[in-house]
Amino acid sequence: MHTPVMLEETVKLLKPGAGRTIVDCTLGFGGHAAALLAEGAMVIGIDQDADALAASKQKFSNGERITFVRANFSDLKNVIREKTDGFLFDLGVSSYQIDRPERGFSIRYDGPLDMRMDQSQPLSAREVLNDYSPEELEKIFFEYGEERFGRRIARAVAGARQIKEIATTGELKEIVEKAIPTWRKRESVSRIFQAIRIEVNGELDRLNKALAQAVELLKPGGRIVVISYHSLEDRAVKKFFVECKKNGILEVITKKPLTASIAESAANPRAKSAKLRCAEKK
Ligand SMILES: C[S@@+](CC[C@H](N)C(=O)[O-])C[C@H]1O[C@@H](n2cnc3c(N)ncnc32)[C@H](O)[C@@H]1O
Repeated sequence: MHTPVMLEETVKLLKPGAGRTIVDCTLGFGGHAAALLAEGAMVIGIDQDADALAASKQKFSNGERITFVRANFSDLKNVIREKTDGFLFDLGVSSYQIDRPERGFSIRYDGPLDMRMDQSQPLSAREVLNDYSPEELEKIFFEYGEERFGRRIARAVAGARQIKEIATTGELKEIVEKAIPTWRKRESVSRIFQAIRIEVNGELDRLNKALAQAVELLKPGGRIVVISYHSLEDRAVKKFFVECKKNGILEVITKKPLTASIAESAANPRAKSAKLRCAEKK
């Protein structure tokens, strides 16, 4: 299993000693949670992915200080009933999700157009690509993918689906590649996949909702740590922290986002794009 990103920094900032409860809002395969438990904290582990939760339950089958909740973190207030000492958000998809062709997240494998982190939600990438209007697709590609050929690609998608429903990630990749100039193909495919994934999982909207709830659920002195992997998420976190600081609710601990060390980035490519921000409740 992959090493958790920026583990040392996360543990140091969350101060997970005995008697403290940390909510790991993105439990995944429990890498961060294991370290928090090892320091003596109680952990409430949340994930919307049934596979991740099942694997973590097995991993911590003897764990007395951890509880598991399958939920979306945008629903924190219904999950967490008492004020708590810390929240961790290690955003995005796990390497497990990416490495499973059948989940449809990866540009490397051919798989169904799925991209749902929560396998029980109705909206998948297939509906987004086949049912959204070209204008809606263009907006998503521009806003969530920051893709400058968004219009061209949206038109190409609209053209392709008139002939046949788009069903696989391989088909999507081919449509994108054909629609744009040669030298940018790989980058653009990644951006379009990112854009669709953000739309399918409502990532930015849910992050904003979760942060607002987490702040209310924190004890004074409690901390939020967010690790994000693309600039849209990081911008949202930064903006949220700055607003809370202005309102006197949070103190920002990381004036600039922390990034992974050169050694960590070399060992774990996922860490390369990681940005960690931390704030403390006043
Ligand atoms: C980067 S992985 C976390 C890895 C974890 N920190 C570890 O050490 O194994 C992100 C996890 O968060 C989950 N996730 C992402 N967005 C979520 C949301 N809105 N609500 C609940 N879980 C979410 C994903 O399903 C995935 O398992």
